[in-house]
Amino acid sequence: MLDFISLALLLLTSLLLIFFNYRRKIAFWKRQNVDLLGVWYMLGKSRRQHLFEILDELYRQMKVEGKPCKVIETSLTTSVILQDHTAITEVLTSKFEKFPERGFYVNNQDPLMANLVRYKYDLWKPLRRKLAPAFTPAKLKYMFPTMTQVGERFVKIVTDELERSADGILEMHDWCKRFSMDVIGTIAFGIEVNCLEDGQNQFKTRMEKALVEHFRPLTDQICVKYPRLMNLLNFKYHSRQSIEFFGRLVQDTVEYREKYKVRRNDFLDLLLECRDNEDEFQLTMDMIVGHVFIFFIGGYESSSTALCQALYELAKKPELQEKARMEVQQVVTSQKVSYENLKSLKYVKQVIMETLRKYPIVPAMLRLCRESCSLNTKSGPLEIPEGATLMLPIYSIHNDEDFYPNPKEFLPERFEESSEKQRPTHTFLTFGDGPRNCIAFGFGVMELLYALSTLLVNFRFTLSEKSPKVIEFDRNTKYIASLSSGIYLKVEKI
Ligand code: HEM
Repeated sequence: MLDFISLALLLLTSLLLIFFNYRRKIAFWKRQNVDLLGVWYMLGKSRRQHLFEILDELYRQMKVEGKPCKVIETSLTTSVILQDHTAITEVLTSKFEKFPERGFYVNNQDPLMANLVRYKYDLWKPLRRKLAPAFTPAKLKYMFPTMTQVGERFVKIVTDELERSADGILEMHDWCKRFSMDVIGTIAFGIEVNCLEDGQNQFKTRMEKALVEHFRPLTDQICVKYPRLMNLLNFKYHSRQSIEFFGRLVQDTVEYREKYKVRRNDFLDLLLECRDNEDEFQLTMDMIVGHVFIFFIGGYESSSTALCQALYELAKKPELQEKARMEVQQVVTSQKVSYENLKSLKYVKQVIMETLRKYPIVPAMLRLCRESCSLNTKSGPLEIPEGATLMLPIYSIHNDEDFYPNPKEFLPERFEESSEKQRPTHTFLTFGDGPRNCIAFGFGVMELLYALSTLLVNFRFTLSEKSPKVIEFDRNTKYIASLSSGIYLKVEKI
């Protein structure tokens, strides 16, 4: 047993070590003429603003001051908010090997944390290679008919709802979420979620709870520094109910497939192949649960939010809506959109890209520095120490006048081929960039293109007295820009 004096000495030594470590780190940044922000800067601001608004204020200041970055240094964590475009491009592409992780914490006792988004480089690399074939154009084409079955139910259920509604005003975000949940459930895992029929079903409520539990920016930074301690304390992010719910769901589905020898060539089959393959990387059952969970998150929140934001922008600009609808009407037959139609829907695709530019669902990408290195910036080299977390502000880049003039305006023409060619590369970052970009971006775009054109050819959307003046975001969801309230629109059947 330690006596009181030994304990006091131990505490004092630890505090002194933390203090000198802090001084050393501050001196490192000062030598490079980098501005430091107070420890409480983010915490104070985050009560009033969303993460993307705070980062955007800083980004603009840095541009005016000609500074490549600002840093928040505590002795425990280092956050570098990067503004310089050359440096951002290097982090994502040519210097990827130094920044191949997001710096998220993983506790193997919490299976929902064991997934591609969170994995360290060594586990991520073979798994990404193994899962990428699930998203090739051939696979997307194969998935398409299943998506159209959900789309047809979507149209029918919204039509029925309109007949019951006295004023024709519907909360479209909820409808888009129900559609997205059913799509990802059936396409990825062969699970009939039936959220369209029952918006309060257990699946949707569980998913929304688990989503809030999953994203904890500050906790992640601390946990990732002390993973052994956190694992020793068995620190989990998800509640017992969430872990049990997704665990049981996967277990039951896998048992069913094995018993009846069902093969659907979907994401789950691919994950099971990785479990059974003995000669290379093998997945455990917990890892399969973690991936089913992250694919649900990816397919649910991002696609549904983007779809209803596109509807909202088109309701605000009826002339753009009419132009998009006319394009769809010219290519489809019997109001049904086929896979072959998609490549002709050029304007609808521009509407989607502009929506994803204006409202990137992930406001900032994170990259952990695995090995100290130097980045090139407009004002010279910038040394980044090992262990620093870089924040790459997607929202600010998408709202930078130099890349997108008049950025607050919704202008689908920005994504005409000729305009795209004039923009510098790595300025559209909604799906991230480089080797660690969104594995499912092709799937995301296909789903949005199909869903938006199907809705446009069946319904007309206008603003109502209940529609928000601008889209507001929930400050409690830091890593993702979730909507803070419903998007009510007046809907008419065509
Ligand atoms: C509109 C739809 C979507 C958007 C905007 C989106 C956005 C993103 C972003 C910004 C990232 C981080 C990229 C980076 O750090 O460079 C990401 C990663 C990821 N997304 Fe998506 N996503 C979408 C749809 C989906 C879907 C449908 C799925 C699953 C079926 C999915 C699964 C993933 C996974 C697994 C990762 C981690 C990739 C890795 O680390 O290798 N996403 N996504």
